Amino acid sequence: MEDPWEARNILDYVRGITQCSPQTALELGCGRGVLVSEWNRLKIRTYGIDLRDVYEGDRSPFVIADARSLPFRDELFDIVCDNWAIDDMKRLQNYQEEALKKIARETHRVLRSGGYFVTLPRAFYTLSWLGFEDVKSFIGIYRKIRQ
Ligand SMILES: C[S@@+](CC[C@H](N)C(=O)[O-])C[C@H]1O[C@@H](n2cnc3c(N)ncnc32)[C@H](O)[C@@H]1O
Repeated sequence: MEDPWEARNILDYVRGITQCSPQTALELGCGRGVLVSEWNRLKIRTYGIDLRDVYEGDRSPFVIADARSLPFRDELFDIVCDNWAIDDMKRLQNYQEEALKKIARETHRVLRSGGYFVTLPRAFYTLSWLGFEDVKSFIGIYRKIRQ
């Protein structure tokens, strides 16, 4: 993600669908950290993790870590966001079933009950760059219903 405007739009969309006001969030595979910086600016305490140290901006919310083993306590976050990271991991690192299950388990563990996993797949970006409308229907929003 290059543009903070997109990060704000995503947040507005998630708030609209879920009717929740998140206080804490985590972005998996945050890269340069555009979403992390913008959500923090909007007063959501947001952390970003990435295997690579390419984070830009205020570094305090950034942790070098693997999405398969998250360095956070259980039930810490209202939102865990996959902003075109998991698709990238599958494609570039050939993550298979076992790695993806680990990411899912860790995401579930650090989400509070009633929190949301928000996932923006590659198709969301591909179609929006091509100029298609209504690509927001590609954003997946999944509520954690039990521990
Ligand atoms: C396509 S980039 C997305 C970056 C960011 N979400 C954005 O929108 O700009 C995918 C990121 O996932 C990171 N990544 C890959 N495998 C990872 C893993 N196991 N744990 C954490 N991050 C990982 C990569 O280093 C890369 O920065």
